[in-house]
Amino acid sequence: MKRYTECSQAELIALQDEWQTKFDHCKKLALKLDMSRGKPGPEQLDLSRELLRYDLADGMTESGVDARNYGGLEGLTETRAFFSEVLDIPAQNMIIGGNSSLNLMYDAVVRCLIFGTGGHTPWSKLPKVRFLCPSPGYDRHFAICEELGIEMIVVPMTSTGPDMDMVEKLVAEDDSIKGIWCVPLYSNPQGICYSDETVERLAAMRCAAPDFRIFWDNAYGVHHLAGETPLRNIFEAAGACGNSDRVYYFFSTSKITFPGAGVALVAASPANIAEISRHMTIQTIGHDKLNQLRTVRFLKNADGVREQMRRQAALIAPKFQLVLSHLEKELGGSGVAEWETPAGGYFVAVDTLDGCARETVALAAEAGVKLTSAGATFPYHKDPRDRNIRIAPTYPSLAELDKAMQIFCVCVKLAAVRRLLDGQK
Ligand SMILES: Cc1ncc(COP(=O)(O)O)c(C=O)c1O
Repeated sequence: MKRYTECSQAELIALQDEWQTKFDHCKKLALKLDMSRGKPGPEQLDLSRELLRYDLADGMTESGVDARNYGGLEGLTETRAFFSEVLDIPAQNMIIGGNSSLNLMYDAVVRCLIFGTGGHTPWSKLPKVRFLCPSPGYDRHFAICEELGIEMIVVPMTSTGPDMDMVEKLVAEDDSIKGIWCVPLYSNPQGICYSDETVERLAAMRCAAPDFRIFWDNAYGVHHLAGETPLRNIFEAAGACGNSDRVYYFFSTSKITFPGAGVALVAASPANIAEISRHMTIQTIGHDKLNQLRTVRFLKNADGVREQMRRQAALIAPKFQLVLSHLEKELGGSGVAEWETPAGGYFVAVDTLDGCARETVALAAEAGVKLTSAGATFPYHKDPRDRNIRIAPTYPSLAELDKAMQIFCVCVKLAAVRRLLDGQK
């Protein structure tokens, strides 16, 4: 295929006619397809069906705690031991929360704003608080900052994680930079995995703010599609440099069992865990221990999680392959789109030609395909190059995805050819 960027005006006009005709045809089909939601499909949820009628007998745990009653803010011993094995984090360094890790992240930021951390000034008393936001990234991280008045600084992603030269420079010279959002394995939306070097540099870097925190959201830590990608243990790396207090680690079973009805946790250094507990104990008498018990008895151990994730991968890997094969077949070599091939996680991110993402998403909507809104993967919904689009392949069926991707590729090409012709005016 000839690269669109190398086409003459006459060739572009011919291409525009071709893709406009195809687009009009797509519109006539009046489809209603959705590739916007990072949700598991019903068949993935069925893998955890047993949880719906799980018999917890008398609700007593193996260690003799009555999970039906109040008590144990930090979570059940069995649940902490389970996550300790899955994540390779000491059990005493974690608190098992409720159903949502995002909730724990929000609370962590709010605590720092109201109370401060490590004995430092509460962030809300400072003239300015900034966070580094590796982008494209997770829109809900950015929404937390936006709502709480934290200024966001975009840091570009590379194939091994955030641009670390930029991160190191910024945190060293600006003490108003208090945090960074990281999704270290199979990042949302690009599926990028942080290299050992990236993790080590984050752990070791010199920060002007003594209360700088890494918000380590390992949401896709076990969501492998093609073998297990290793991730350097951030606590080990930070501990080796005397920076253990720098890390807040978040995880949940949302996309292992049931989103919104799983079990979440926060892990941190002993000093941070003590600080979090002091505030959390005012906030709640304890989280849902019955769900903790059910989850552990169902998943059992790290091997149980591996098995569950292998079953999930068997269901969703074909969906990823389908998305990628459409991209390759219909856009490969055209020069109008680029994408990463994720080895896990929940998304495929496509970069269109600069200035084409909004139009592509709007065209797709016109043709009945809902996509995540353009700009959503950047702070303040502003994609500086207007080119990133997040595709969520897990929820639709293979047949729906097939149609949706055909239409998506038509829209990418039509938006690109219009843009190129505009540029020639
Ligand atoms: C990166 C990331 N973190 C957190 C979440 C939400 O997790 P939870 O359901 O535990 O709140 C999501 C959900 O899509 C996500 O993509």
